[in-house]
Amino acid sequence: MTALIQLTGITKVLKGQEQPRTILDGVSLDVHPGESLAIVGRSGSGKSTLLSVLGLFDRPDQGTYLLSGTDISRLPERRAAKLRSSHFGFVFQRFFLLKHLTAAQNVAMALVNGQGWLPRRQRRARVMQALDEVGIAHLAKNRPARMSGGEQQRVAIARALVREPRILLADEPTGALDTETGTLVIDALQSVTARGCALILVTHDRDHAARMGRLLHLDAGVLTEQLVTS
Ligand SMILES: Nc1ncnc2c1ncn2[C@@H]1O[C@H](COP(=O)(O)OP(=O)(O)OP(=O)(O)O)[C@@H](O)[C@H]1O
Ligand SMILES: [Mg+2]
Repeated sequence: MTALIQLTGITKVLKGQEQPRTILDGVSLDVHPGESLAIVGRSGSGKSTLLSVLGLFDRPDQGTYLLSGTDISRLPERRAAKLRSSHFGFVFQRFFLLKHLTAAQNVAMALVNGQGWLPRRQRRARVMQALDEVGIAHLAKNRPARMSGGEQQRVAIARALVREPRILLADEPTGALDTETGTLVIDALQSVTARGCALILVTHDRDHAARMGRLLHLDAGVLTEQLVTS
């Protein structure tokens, strides 16, 4: 089976300083549909940089990036932007919700910005399905100010899911939440793998990392996979 993502020898060098610094150092990684991966590593090890390369916000200096077998390592920005909205969902530590809009309206924004116009009824059905998938359909009409942090993050996840991405990239999505709330958010994230979406989670939380199917460690830009025993 063709991998969804295949990175080979990805290197990212930070220039413009006295000495160029290697941030990603020959990273190779295959990801298949429905897999969940945790990326752990100390602060500054390159985790967010790797996610920006994966999500096409940034290009590698060396190496190849195949998406479903197509080489996208050196894609011009316009085509990268298209692929970003058709293939990827993003979740960050901060929720970036629009506070004057309801949960449903926040999620609907992701459909308006990028997928042309869907008829209103279809749009509404997709929004409600995404909210339901993360367990907060009952909060559809609430505004972020009246929700807990965990609920707000689940709105952000629904917003990422509503375009039905093939890959969900989450950069410390529980970083601003307490452990119990964080666990609910991880549940919501993990549910996407059931329909074949791949989940790549950057986290400092060992328990959350252990719940992913694969565990990868980034150390000064070098990625190694740890065998999961349980
Ligand atoms: N735009 C930038 N300008 C300068 N340095 C950068 C830039 N982006 C990343 N870096 C440097 O690259 C290295 C890797 O950063 P990155 O943000 O990927 O680490 P991280 O593993 O996500 O860390 P954290 O756990 O703190 O989020 C760091 O040393 C950082 O200082
Ligand atoms: Mg980071």
